Amino acid sequence: TITCVIMAGGKGERFWPKSRTNLPKQFLNISGTKSMIQQSIARLEKLIDISQIFIVTNELYAELIKAQIPHLPLANIIIEPVGRNTAPCIGLASIIIEDRFPDSTMIVIPSDHIIENEEGFVRILKTAVEVAQDNSNLVTLGIQPTYPETGYGYIESSDESQQINELPVHKVNKFVEKPDLATAQSYLESGNFYWNSGIFIWKIETIRGYIKELMPEMHDILETMKTVLKSKDRDAIIRSEFLKMPDQSIDYGIMEKVNNIYVIPCVFGWDDVGSWTALERISDLDENGNVIKGNILNLDTKRCIIESNGKLIATLGIEDLIIVDTEDVTLICTKDKAQEVKLLLKELRMQK
Ligand code: GDD
Ligand code: MG
Repeated sequence: TITCVIMAGGKGERFWPKSRTNLPKQFLNISGTKSMIQQSIARLEKLIDISQIFIVTNELYAELIKAQIPHLPLANIIIEPVGRNTAPCIGLASIIIEDRFPDSTMIVIPSDHIIENEEGFVRILKTAVEVAQDNSNLVTLGIQPTYPETGYGYIESSDESQQINELPVHKVNKFVEKPDLATAQSYLESGNFYWNSGIFIWKIETIRGYIKELMPEMHDILETMKTVLKSKDRDAIIRSEFLKMPDQSIDYGIMEKVNNIYVIPCVFGWDDVGSWTALERISDLDENGNVIKGNILNLDTKRCIIESNGKLIATLGIEDLIIVDTEDVTLICTKDKAQEVKLLLKELRMQK
């Protein structure tokens, strides 16, 4: 069987003020007519049944998920009391899924990415599952890098490669999470590196083996949780055990430290919609390179991203700005600071 874990615990802070703590990016309609998580589910349903799809999220978002995905079985919503990054999220999902689908191969996927070409997406996942079922392989999907992004993981492919279902599958030399700029630059120049898309495919027993070896502290917590899965106090015990989890991403905790990784270059359009400037890549631009949404009047305005919430936004003679109006907050920021929008939130929290 194939199962899928959708990671949906992120706060989407770089999309503030549209993305808020009680309604983060994955639940918003950033592109298209459905929310990002609804789009993720629809895409995966081309491959597997909804009963095999699980969503891991913070308890704050359980109600949103029920409302947005009413056909998802309630037992497939896995709740975390706090965010401890992706390793605990994947660990917890692995024991709960194992209980229901014991020998499954698990696809781990973020809830808030844009993927174009669903047919390519399904084809690559089927191939990835085949590779993951062989031995104890960990499979990643790689993106051809276009600039030295330091917020991504980098995957170096080796010369060892094979064709499976007409797709190249490369053995990985090394996985490096979020290198510094000079290193990212050198990776880009070498030509052998892919960006990590953040989508992983592996058998449950494989990832658990690595957790046991490389994150023993987390392994012990998961073993305790396993013993209570059938108990009536299950939720309370899982909750208190989860609070003991280390704060660690799967990339640093496991992927950087293992050898048998394979990468399949993506044959679909991918964007992780990391910050406001992503809209320039995924939207239609006007003749001056602006992304505009809502009630906007602009003259002599170039390369701006402007979103109105109903009220008219009129601009004249501005360039390279992000303007986002919501009911209670208006953000005005230069595009080169898009990654730092989080700082405003931090400041606001300190003032409270
Ligand atoms: N349930 C849950 N709980 N989900 C989480 C948590 C958590 O504690 N933390 C993060 N997530 C979700 C996020 O919502 C997102 O969908 C996904 O897991 C990845 O987390 P990010 O925080 O966005 O990771 P990143 O962007 O720094 O890096 C990862 O993604 C890059 C590609 O977008 C890494 O895998 C990089 O190697 C990769 O290049
Ligand atoms: Mg991300």
